[in-house]
Amino acid sequence: MSRVLSGIQPSGQLHLGNYCGAIRQFLDLQAAGHEMFVFVASYHALTTQRDPAVLRANIHQIVVDYLAFGLDPARTNIYVQQDVPEVTELAWLLSCVCPISMMDKAVSYKDKIEKGFSANIALYTYPILQAADILAPQAEIVPVGKDQVQHIEITRDLAARFNHEFQVQVFTEPAHRLAPDADVLPGIDGEKMSKSYGNTIDPFLEEKALRKRIMSIKTDSKGVQDAKDPDTCPVFRIARAIAGKADQRILDLAAKYRDPSRHSPEGFGYGHAKQTLFELVLDHFGPARGRRAALMADPGHIDAVLRAGAAVARARARMTVDEARRATGLA
Ligand code: TRP
Repeated sequence: MSRVLSGIQPSGQLHLGNYCGAIRQFLDLQAAGHEMFVFVASYHALTTQRDPAVLRANIHQIVVDYLAFGLDPARTNIYVQQDVPEVTELAWLLSCVCPISMMDKAVSYKDKIEKGFSANIALYTYPILQAADILAPQAEIVPVGKDQVQHIEITRDLAARFNHEFQVQVFTEPAHRLAPDADVLPGIDGEKMSKSYGNTIDPFLEEKALRKRIMSIKTDSKGVQDAKDPDTCPVFRIARAIAGKADQRILDLAAKYRDPSRHSPEGFGYGHAKQTLFELVLDHFGPARGRRAALMADPGHIDAVLRAGAAVARARARMTVDEARRATGLA
């Protein structure tokens, strides 16, 4: 069994992209019995968020979502970043061995500046804090989406540098893990599903709104009798990402795309495909939707979960920081 750690920035409702890229991996690894740490990257969110009410609400929301999707506090330590202050101390220690050039190479910083975020120091040193998140509990596996791979490479570099510069073996170098079949999930406009593009689908939307959202997915103008290519259609690709490519419903759906008239004399159009996707989302996320409604009504439970998760994470982080302090001469 391995020690697994990951986190997501609280930036609003989690969507199908987060589910397919990250959450489902957390659930698989949890089911496999690994030692799990899943946290809320609240300090990372603070690099760009300036509304305290929004940040507070988003932090709460993401914990509700973690639990609704099926993270189980009995098997996964769930916590918010600021409840483990050892992480920020570790970030300082790591920053002392981090060459400027390592940060200059990080693409996420450049991306954010391009998107118009102001160039603050925390945004620039974001990967160092992320390395501290990972190295604090000495995680071995970090399940992430493709966009985070570079940050895990930086983490390995910093771990190795610290060990080398202080001639110690304090840190374990972690490996990233991508979702099997990790395909870029398209949003309703066909571009990569991303909060910043406003093209996401939220599996917890109320039914009517969910149906409307799915009906708004952009498709080409092929008619009900025309043969269609499932592999280039966002409706099909989203359905496949959720159900898995071997699912019978997906095999049937692909057959209908390719040969609509065999399906029925009226053919098979994008409206039918969207209805199929809608039903599939409701079916797949039925239990999660039920759990979420119950969680929303029980804030005391969320607090208790976070306290328990932070206690375990702190104890582990303390051991690492103590070792790192000794290595440096601070202790
Ligand atoms: N940077 C990650 C994101 O934006 C969030 C994150 C912060 C993270 N610390 C982490 C992910 C540690 C994995 C491990 O999604």
